[in-house]
Amino acid sequence: MNSKSVLVAGGAGYIGSHTVVELINAGYEVVVVDNLSNSDISSLEGINKITGVKPTFYNVDCCDKGALSEVFKRHDFNSVIHFAAFKAVGESVEQPAKYYRNNLLSFMNVLELMVEYGRRNVVFSSSATVYGDADELPVTEDTPRKPATSPYGNTKQMSEDILRDSVRANSSLRGIALRYFNPIGAHPSALIGELPRGVPNNLVPYITQTAAGIRECLSIFGQDYPTPDGSCLRDYIDIVDLAKAHVAAIDRMVEERGKESYEVFNIGTGRPVSVFELVHVFEEANNLKLNYKVAPRRAGDVPAVWADTTRANEVLGWRAERALVDTLKAAWQWERNVRGIE
Ligand code: NAD
Ligand code: WQD
Repeated sequence: MNSKSVLVAGGAGYIGSHTVVELINAGYEVVVVDNLSNSDISSLEGINKITGVKPTFYNVDCCDKGALSEVFKRHDFNSVIHFAAFKAVGESVEQPAKYYRNNLLSFMNVLELMVEYGRRNVVFSSSATVYGDADELPVTEDTPRKPATSPYGNTKQMSEDILRDSVRANSSLRGIALRYFNPIGAHPSALIGELPRGVPNNLVPYITQTAAGIRECLSIFGQDYPTPDGSCLRDYIDIVDLAKAHVAAIDRMVEERGKESYEVFNIGTGRPVSVFELVHVFEEANNLKLNYKVAPRRAGDVPAVWADTTRANEVLGWRAERALVDTLKAAWQWERNVRGIE
């Protein structure tokens, strides 16, 4: 098997496309599968412009095991990064079966094919959502998970458990679950970034679309939380830093470092940032004023969550490097690029 080759499932998406760039920069050969259910083929053009490399691409639904097995037959990658999932929390509450089917079946197909074709290393995209409203802050990887409050969150917990059990049952497999905090920003080239469909649920795309005049006004959901300025605290992780964490995870497994065959890492900055602070840094970074108002709390939001990143720092040798101001400049540059704003 080729240890310098990686299959990226969901590699045309937001986090996937940035990860493909960093894998190529680190000397890996990349095969992308994506059914483009929440992304655009243009992200692969962006990857090509940034790196000079056009990764091999298959328009395949990972839920279609037969089609996915053809990709395993044709390529000798020894590692897989699995991003291919739906991610809208609210939609998952309305259409739970859609989320359980896509997120669980796609991952189980990947794991079964890895065993069948003798592939070793897998990285799974987990989420800080598994911690829910944690009793201790910052959260470490040993902070107990809370019962999921959405089907989406449940698919992350279940997928972590499926990975743990699969690795336990198959000595040929090794797995890492990365629990991302709040990924934001875009590649500094502004050639790839986040492309939400419809009205954005997440804070930063809502901010950039408001600055671009597509949304009238940002609603800040709640200023009566038990936090220093009353708005929620989150750990916003730059997308390029996050992409590099995947390379660190793959390197660790490819080099057979460490004894554990299943590991979990928090991927964040370790720094809590409030909604008001984020808005103000965005305004200062880009020298503009944002139209915003305070609105009632949003159902399901936890008051605060941020990461203890000690394990990722020490074991993966990875740490978040980009300053929030640069991340928010890149987010705005990307939005302008997409909208054709000078
Ligand atoms: P995204 O929607 O941009 O990327 C996911 C990609 O997977 C898309 O390109 C989509 O077309 C593809 N896909 C979905 N189902 C597929 C299937 N069955 N077969 C093939 N391709 C499929 O989302 P993202 O923000 O890049 O998230 C990537 C992963 O990280 C997801 O698993 C998500 O749950 C997880 N995650 C995201 C965040 C976040 O805030 N963005 C936070 C924590 C975890
Ligand atoms: C951040 C903060 C909002 C929009 C979600 C998922 C989580 C993970 C990351 C996948 C909160 C506030 C937001 C707005 C606002 N995804 N906000 N006005 O909710 O922390 O996490 O994305 O795994 O599972 O739940 O991210 O960007 O939606 O919100 O005031 O218009 O911004 O209340 O405090 P969240 P977010």
